[in-house]
Amino acid sequence: MASSISTHFFFLITLPTFVIFVFSGYATAQLSPTFYARNCPNFQNIVRNGMNQAVRSDRRMGASILRLFFHDCFVNGCDASILLDDTATFTGEQNAFANRNSARGFEVIDSIKANVEAACSGTVSCADILALAARDGVVLLGGPSWTVSFGRRDARTASQTQANNDIPSPFSDLATLTSNFAAKGLNARDMTALSGAHTIGFAQCFTFRNRIYNATNIDPAFATTRRATCPATGGDSNLAPFDATQNNFDNNYYRALVARRGLLRSDQELFNNGAQDALVRTYSTNPAAFRADFAAAMVKLSNLSPLTGTNGEIRRNCGVVN
Ligand code: HEM
Ligand SMILES: *[C@@H]1O[C@H](CO)[C@@H](O)[C@H](O)[C@H]1NC(C)=O
Repeated sequence: MASSISTHFFFLITLPTFVIFVFSGYATAQLSPTFYARNCPNFQNIVRNGMNQAVRSDRRMGASILRLFFHDCFVNGCDASILLDDTATFTGEQNAFANRNSARGFEVIDSIKANVEAACSGTVSCADILALAARDGVVLLGGPSWTVSFGRRDARTASQTQANNDIPSPFSDLATLTSNFAAKGLNARDMTALSGAHTIGFAQCFTFRNRIYNATNIDPAFATTRRATCPATGGDSNLAPFDATQNNFDNNYYRALVARRGLLRSDQELFNNGAQDALVRTYSTNPAAFRADFAAAMVKLSNLSPLTGTNGEIRRNCGVVN
């Protein structure tokens, strides 16, 4: 009798637990916060100093590096594929729709990488540098912190097609955005929290023009203000901040959504009489809830199918395969 009970317990508890470990371990098996503790103990200080300097000379850089990391992770995982430069014989991700004339901050990662190489050459991946730089940028702008695990390796390839397919469009509706994130194992709550990254940084006129001239779910005074610097034709690259405090990582993005002052269509879709309205309202009045959920979702984003072990390489120069 006793042995039959324990056998049942094995199948009811041990076996399912084992299965969960195998599948979740697949993505994060070898990542660890202490991965470089022995071989590059100063790595985290070098990245923090580099981001400090970059954000001091250009506050927007915290936002730009965070977006670079998001666009890296959404395309074949967090493998620094976005950092590979196009050449005559290689087409990477930098000229995909979402990145061309838009993704910025490459020179900041290159400069940090040069300093890391000087301290411990051939040891730290560009993918890990980008993951940590994104976290440090958020912290420098007043956002939450989270523990970054390391051990990602750098891709030897990149895919413009995959970037065009997988990076969400600012013209999308809620259902499409939700399925874009679900395809990466991120649920709607993760999506709504991660979109709060738009509490920092800017967007170009062509990404929100249709909304400010044609949408009905927009505060008219806000539309008028935005039209002043984003004409119906021309001025495609004119910048507007996502919220009124674009250099502070706060919850004003969600307050803007509740006021129907979302900049992109994809922003306002999170508060447009749909399933995410309640969560947006929560974040708009509870900054601590937003900070906690954002940090948790960033850890999930950071763990998207990394190359580990002997896969990929440690690039010497982030823009070029070794
Ligand atoms: C929900 C789907 C998303 C869409 C459709 C979207 C789209 C966009 C667009 C169109 C821009 C402006 C780019 C330009 O005009 O050059 C932008 C900027 C930005 N995005 Fe997103 N985004 C999304 C989610 C995210 C996520 C998940 C993050 C990070 C966790 C993020 C971080 C940023 C940041 C920080 C900026 C400002 C960058 C800067 O000022 O340089 N976005 N996004
Ligand atoms: C407004 O919508 C119409 C009809 O879809 C479109 O032709 C026009 O270009 C839009 N206007 C702007 C400024 O985007």
